[in-house]
Amino acid sequence: MSAKSSGKPLITIVGAGNLAGTLAVALRGAGYAIDQIVSRGSAASLQQARRFAREVKAVAVAAARAHIRAEVVWFCVPDGAIASAAKSLAGTADWHGKVALHSSGALTSDELGGLRRRGAAVASVHPLMTFVRGSRPALAGVPFALEGDLKAVRTARAIVLELGGRAFPIRKQEKAAYHAWGMFSSPLLTALLAASERVAGEAGVGPKAARDRMLPILRQTLANYERLGAAGAFSGPLVRGDVATVGRHLQVLLEVPEVREVYVALARAALSDLPTKNRAMLQKILKS
Ligand SMILES: NC(=O)c1ccc[n+]([C@@H]2O[C@H](COP(=O)([O-])OP(=O)(O)OC[C@H]3O[C@@H](n4cnc5c(N)ncnc54)[C@H](OP(=O)(O)O)[C@@H]3O)[C@@H](O)[C@H]2O)c1
Repeated sequence: MSAKSSGKPLITIVGAGNLAGTLAVALRGAGYAIDQIVSRGSAASLQQARRFAREVKAVAVAAARAHIRAEVVWFCVPDGAIASAAKSLAGTADWHGKVALHSSGALTSDELGGLRRRGAAVASVHPLMTFVRGSRPALAGVPFALEGDLKAVRTARAIVLELGGRAFPIRKQEKAAYHAWGMFSSPLLTALLAASERVAGEAGVGPKAARDRMLPILRQTLANYERLGAAGAFSGPLVRGDVATVGRHLQVLLEVPEVREVYVALARAALSDLPTKNRAMLQKILKS
């Protein structure tokens, strides 16, 4: 089915990294035709773009040689490269009637202001999901934060719904806090798991065994969080007010000072946000 006969806009994707790969395949699966995968001009960048293009029956092209025909251009480049990537494509099309999207969680649609001035409607469309090499998560059920020009937001919302995602509006001034929340939801959670592995090392357990042995408790914690919320899922010495046990932890964590800081910071946050006993004594010991 062609993009025209399906009534769905033709899409060009700029960038061939972690988000672009998942997005291109999901869009194709939802019946969108991908026209081009636009990359930078180096051999490595073009090779990666060609690999993705083959998967979704698109054409790989370097930005310097691109001629943009698609109605929707989706920038999947690092946050710091969005404005310059847009600038490099500014002269390659008449942007009137086109929609330009980027997927930064922290930056607003204004990052595409150069294309807006050339006639495009622009929006930011951020999936609250993690995309890493070697994994292509399903987009069904994924929330997408949308912000920008009315026409671009409408177009983006329709695409998100076709992907099975959940669109929700966000205000420009909320984006930095929104993305800090996203940072806690995956990258810092992963950093916490890496820190946990270091503590396991202090107990004589290597990282691979630690990962294996932690998974049951991690899965149950997430299941409890899903069903009972943070307060209901919270267990351990802070809930019980077991000051002496926390003292033992703090003593042994002197061996891994950066990780000890994480323990103290999270325990302090828990004392203000979660049900705990012996709060004053715990606060005191966490300060020492
Ligand atoms: N990864 C996630 O979990 C995630 C989640 C939600 C949103 N996002 C957002 O998605 C966007 C992309 O992130 P990502 O993780 O997919 O990044 P990534 O894996 O580092 O991929 C970035 C891609 O952009 C290309 N690129 C860089 N500068 C370019 C330019 N000027 N013109 C054309 N292509 C260019 C890079 O290719 P070369 O360097 O080879 O040229 C690479 O293919 C970011 O805005 C990010 O905030 C990411």
